[in-house]
Amino acid sequence: MSTVAVLKGGRSLERQVSLVSGARVEDALERLGHDVEGIDVGPDLVQRLRVLRPDVCFVALHGRDGEDGTVQELLEILGIPYTGSGVSSCIRCADKVLAKHQMLDAGIPTPPFFAFTETAFKQLGAADALAEIEQRLEFPIVVKPADQGSALGIKVAQDAAAIPAALVAAFSYSAKVLLERHVDGRDLAVSVLDGEALPVVEAVPEQAGLYDFEARYTIGRTHFVCPADLPPQTTARAQELAVQVHELLGCRDVSRVDLLCDGDGALHVLEANVVPGLTETSLLPQAADAAGIGFDELIGRLVERALRRA
Ligand SMILES: Nc1ncnc2c1ncn2[C@@H]1O[C@H](COP(=O)(O)OP(=O)(O)O)[C@@H](O)[C@H]1O
Ligand SMILES: [Mg+2]
Repeated sequence: MSTVAVLKGGRSLERQVSLVSGARVEDALERLGHDVEGIDVGPDLVQRLRVLRPDVCFVALHGRDGEDGTVQELLEILGIPYTGSGVSSCIRCADKVLAKHQMLDAGIPTPPFFAFTETAFKQLGAADALAEIEQRLEFPIVVKPADQGSALGIKVAQDAAAIPAALVAAFSYSAKVLLERHVDGRDLAVSVLDGEALPVVEAVPEQAGLYDFEARYTIGRTHFVCPADLPPQTTARAQELAVQVHELLGCRDVSRVDLLCDGDGALHVLEANVVPGLTETSLLPQAADAAGIGFDELIGRLVERALRRA
């Protein structure tokens, strides 16, 4: 049996979600017989890891630090194997603009977009180009921070008058923001485990509108259908796209690819998440369960894969 440090919490806006994911992972690892230590990631992270010398770290840290390659870089320096994607893949996935450009270059469908930094707005007059952007994307337009998760800072602008406030909101989360064509469609997620796509999950909000942060983590606000009720060819296509995106962005062990399915059945990839949620309402555990992989087995497999890299 191994000593496993579960990295959780941290200073991201998804801290609370991560604490829940981390606690569930700790319970599973204990049931599997490992020595487990939960670490709420903070300024003493490196010192604690030096003292503990775990055989492996389980990264259950969502958002900033845990998904952008920061913690992975520290673990590389310390020589501690860890679950999930490596540094470069985290960097690519955490930046939606970078990820979408790679998808476009590879011919993977993703909604058209334009992206700017706050500096471009303040110092290069990017705001003067908004009319052209609005014309090219057409309303409604989704305004989102380049590097957040859980729908934080995302707004749907119905008309030009709503754009400035949406930009201000998004810039309060990130120095880079994208304006993206709105796809009227169903919210799908496909997790990829060990290179293979799991059953598709559809998230259906109880109230119409964006699948937002609150709905995501409040049991009863969203219901999930897994396997999603889709024509077989749409399911197959969603799974194929997810595996392609996982490979394109260099993901390892596990990822969750978020897509939209429009009224014509066409699929549009939004993003890939390298540290998918592991709470009770999270999509990866539901998808694994539908594939006959229980939570403990899922967690155990991720740890085994990391240990094999030791
Ligand atoms: N272009 C879009 N058209 C329609 N809905 C969108 C679009 N982009 C995002 N959304 C909605 O917002 C949610 C979160 O967007 P996503 O890009 O996956 O960012 P996050 O990292 O916050 O999960 C999606 O699941 C979807 O419901
Ligand atoms: Mg998403």
